Amino acid sequence: MKKFLDLGSQPLANSYINYKKLKNKEKKFKLTVGFDPKNYLVSILNTVPKEKMFNENYPYKSSESFTMRKSFKDLSINIKKKFKSKLILEIGSNDGAFIKNFKKKNIIGVEPCKNLAKITRKQGYKTFSEYWDLSLAKKISKKKKVDIIYSANTLSHIKNFSEIFKAVDLSLSHNGILILEDPSLLECIKNVAYDQFYCEHIYVFSTIALQKILDKFDLEIFNIENTKTHGGSNRYFIKRKSNIFYKKNKSVNKNINLEKGYGLHKFSTYKKFAKKVLSSKNQLNKIIKKISKNHKKIIGYGATAKSCTVLNYCNIGSKEIDYFYDTTSYKIGKFLPGSKIEIRKYKKLNIDEVDYVFLGAWNFKKEIFKKEKKFIKEGGKFITHIPFPKII
Ligand code: TMP
Repeated sequence: MKKFLDLGSQPLANSYINYKKLKNKEKKFKLTVGFDPKNYLVSILNTVPKEKMFNENYPYKSSESFTMRKSFKDLSINIKKKFKSKLILEIGSNDGAFIKNFKKKNIIGVEPCKNLAKITRKQGYKTFSEYWDLSLAKKISKKKKVDIIYSANTLSHIKNFSEIFKAVDLSLSHNGILILEDPSLLECIKNVAYDQFYCEHIYVFSTIALQKILDKFDLEIFNIENTKTHGGSNRYFIKRKSNIFYKKNKSVNKNINLEKGYGLHKFSTYKKFAKKVLSSKNQLNKIIKKISKNHKKIIGYGATAKSCTVLNYCNIGSKEIDYFYDTTSYKIGKFLPGSKIEIRKYKKLNIDEVDYVFLGAWNFKKEIFKKEKKFIKEGGKFITHIPFPKII
């Protein structure tokens, strides 16, 4: 693994701080990112035990965003149309944004975060509050094999995926398929979205890296959909190599060629990316300094795990950003890890209260701009660092 990026000392991205604990010392870890030239895999180099990140306090809920709800709904319509599946399983079912599009008898959720599993269970969906592994796969597939396994934004969180794929193989029916969806490395590198790297995102996958992993388990990608969620993601449709039911379509080679054309198989591409990240930090600080000098007020929008990386890497704190707005009830009243910026309950932006808004949730830019039409019309400005720091 060859290191190419150093994002400094970072707290756990989702460890929002209670007021009472504000003065306590936070646990930090070194956030560095590397590239493995043998298998093209990009990953963070120091990982945090999964139990520290995915537990009963996990704050992220997929259903809170319209974009995510729509993306899962559209996919469920497609699945019903294209695949004759009797039983579906979702690894990382979160608060049910995907599974609720299916009949209760046709879908199973797996969600280790107990606070989230409780929500889908209450709605009547069978949910296992466990990490996806061989013993759970054995338990589930004892009675019936699964026709489709879907997992969005989860594989990138799991360090050792060997057991994951073995468990998939065990529980998937003969012609069953696996659908994986995760942020695209190509989009991350093109957009200088270095905040895709934080403790939970152990990997950011490319097609070329994922196919190398799948090869070891006799699996192959037969279709790829490029989606807009999480700043640009890939949805990979995967089958057993022995499954001749589905044919590989053009999208697979198209994505491979685009990735190789951009140099995702070469270390030099990542060295160039690291230079752009440093310049992004300097430019963002320049913009913020200039605004502060003019005594204008900056707040943040979307206290995301991604903004944790940006704020801590760029040394931006409560001196620069007054507070963040967020819609997630768990985060409201708490403080962002590291930067210790207060998180307030979201309220429509008002030009009389705020001048500039840092887009922490830049991946929901379209949804946010639609919501804040009035603020924008009245001259309110946003600051984004994607693809390069600028005021919009
Ligand atoms: P994510 O980028 O990790 O998906 O997190 C999105 C965060 O942004 C989540 O905490 C909710 C917040 N958010 C808002 O506060 N308002 C919004 O309009 C949207 C779309 C997200």
